Amino acid sequence: MDILGIDIGGSGIKGALVNAETGEMLTERYRIPTPKSRKPDEMAHVVAQIVEHFNYKGPVGCGFPSIVKNGVCLSPGNLHPSWVGVNVDELFTEVTGQEFTVLNDADAAGYASMNYGAGKGKNGLVIMITIGTGLGSGAFFNGVLLPNFELGQIPYKKYKKIEKWAAASAKEREDLSFKKWGKRFNKFLTLVELIVSPDLIIIGGGTSKNWEEFRHHIDIETHVIKAELMNHAGIIGAAVACLREQHHGHLSS
Ligand code: BGC
Repeated sequence: MDILGIDIGGSGIKGALVNAETGEMLTERYRIPTPKSRKPDEMAHVVAQIVEHFNYKGPVGCGFPSIVKNGVCLSPGNLHPSWVGVNVDELFTEVTGQEFTVLNDADAAGYASMNYGAGKGKNGLVIMITIGTGLGSGAFFNGVLLPNFELGQIPYKKYKKIEKWAAASAKEREDLSFKKWGKRFNKFLTLVELIVSPDLIIIGGGTSKNWEEFRHHIDIETHVIKAELMNHAGIIGAAVACLREQHHGHLSS
């Protein structure tokens, strides 16, 4: 089944048509910058533009950069605080006229990797980490999603959450070299390892395309690999999650 997958990020909102059975992207990725306000109405308008661009009618899967439970945004993440309490499913469905399935963006990226990428067939605790405006994390135990893992929220030194110090946005804000930033990212992974003892960590999100520039700064016991689908994982995974909801009426496995 061909499904429109949308990946909402702090800097861009991206979409593509995906064959949700094979995980193949059927069109080019279409990207519109995230409105500076990062407020619900303006972002919903961009989501509608993406749906219109593909002239799409049908169910839409959408990764969203914060905690999403039963369609409702429970934390602002790096978006405007007025998102908290908004039923994102309903808002996007209303604005576009198409039925939405919304889930956390890193959970979506994880779905893609577990079904079609580096995580396929991997048992135990697999953690997908997405590096972008924030640090996202998707956790899968024996292939089953444990939704809304928020490892980027670990407090660190003077920072309320470690993502403020170790995400790609920190690299950009402080103009850090890959070496300096890579050491910070490694510190984050050290804490992840200490807290949840994963069997495998998969690195996705926009910065995963620079993997070769920072992989040698990663020095932990756990096996760490790059998401083969890289930053397309969010779009593909959102479509896969949507198909699952169509078939099972829930996203839990
Ligand atoms: C949010 C996460 C999200 C991550 C990546 C964080 O700020 O708390 O829910 O997955 O950013 O977008």
